[in-house]
Parts: sequence; C-alpha cells; structure tokens
Amino acid sequence: MRYLILSDMHANWEAFETVLRRARRKRYEAVLVLGDLVGYGAAPNQVVDAVRRMGPRLYTVRGNHDKVVAGIDSGGNFNQTALTAAQWTTGRLTPGNLRYVRDLPQGPMKVEEGVAICHGSPLDEDTYVFSDVDAWEIFSRYETPVTFFGHTHIPSLFWLEGKLLGVKALRGTSGRIVLSPGGRYLINPGSIGQPRDRDPRASYMIYDSKKQVVTWYRIPYAIGESQARIRKAGLPNSLADRLAVGA
Ligand SMILES: [Fe+2]
Repeated sequence: MRYLILSDMHANWEAFETVLRRARRKRYEAVLVLGDLVGYGAAPNQVVDAVRRMGPRLYTVRGNHDKVVAGIDSGGNFNQTALTAAQWTTGRLTPGNLRYVRDLPQGPMKVEEGVAICHGSPLDEDTYVFSDVDAWEIFSRYETPVTFFGHTHIPSLFWLEGKLLGVKALRGTSGRIVLSPGGRYLINPGSIGQPRDRDPRASYMIYDSKKQVVTWYRIPYAIGESQARIRKAGLPNSLADRLAVGA
C-alpha cells in the first residue's frame, strides 16, 4: 500500500492545499493523518472539510489541539497563545466539523499488519518524542515495527536494529529511507501547517509498505497569505510571525 502521511496541519489552509495538490501526482492509495488538524491557524473549516473528503481509505487520530478545541481536554497545560487560538477555533467550526474533530479516535491505531499511527507517542498520545531516550522507552514497551507519529513538528527518524539505536533529523527538500526487515522505526513526517525545524516549508511523507520505502518532501507555499489570514482573524500576531521562520 502507498500511503500519503499528513500531520499537524493546524488550520493552515494555504500549506495544506499546496501539499494536497502536489501529493496528487504521487499516486497514493490511502491517507494517514496524525492529528492536530486545527489550532493556531485561521482556516479550521477548510482544513477539516478537506480531510473529511479524503475517505474512504483514510486513517486519522486526534491531536492535543483537536482535543482542546473539541472540549475533551481543558487546555490547562497550553500557553495563552495556544489556548486563545483553540477557543477561537471552537467558536468558528461548523457544528458538523466540531463533531468530526470531537470524534477523532485516540491513537495508537493499527493501519495494517506491522504499521501504526499516533499523535505523540504510541504509549501516550500527548507525550513528545524528541530524543533517543524517548524512543528507547517506546521501543522497549511497544512492539509494532513501523509507527508514524507527529506532535513535535520536526521531521525525524528513530530506529532500533539489534541493540543499536539511531536518530536522524530529516533535512532538505526531499529524501528517501529504505527500512530494513529486522528494524523497528518511529517516523515523524513533520508539520504541514507550522514547521518548527527552522525550515518554513510544509512537510509531508509518502510510505510504500510493500517496498518499505519512506520518502519525505518539503514544499514552499504562500506563507504570506496564511499570515494575512491569521492577522485578519485577530489571532495572536506571534502565530503569523513564526510561520516565516519555521519555529
Ligand atoms: Fe501540533
């Protein structure tokens, strides 16, 4: 199966639309969405509408922002900017889209034998996986060979082969990883709507589970339009500013 992997769109329609248009040429058969459809950006309905149109081969899990927007979580651990954006989003989503966000399933979710998706960690949907120590804990307690995760907004790869643990930041316009049969992998496609690795371009992946090849892509989009939309909506200025630097 060829999967298109999308994460952390964060209501950034310009970024999401650009990724979808570009990805259409990649001939994928199913779509994996790793959560945080909304929150931060100013186009929540456009993004949720587009995700809802992606069925029937669509697998989604909820993100921490989706939970706060839907009222599943109070957002007590959010900073003021994130909380303001979440509350703004709750007030803007159509009733149908709010219901859709509220009903997004909790990860981890199995998508085929040996492949799973989650938002933060497969052990806890809200936990960030940044380091080899974080990955080690997951590898020692969670068996699935290939897991795609989001949440950190940093395209990255963690792998365990025998007793060797590896970490790699996935940089550049595109690249390819060939997974080895005995290895186990935690793979982050990065964020579409709010990259945080100092590269402002939208980030996504294609995974071919038959060939066991992962390809990542970064693509430029109309950042100025996303920023203008955020400012016009009256959302905190910092949410617009950070898009330009990818932080
Ligand atoms: Fe996120």
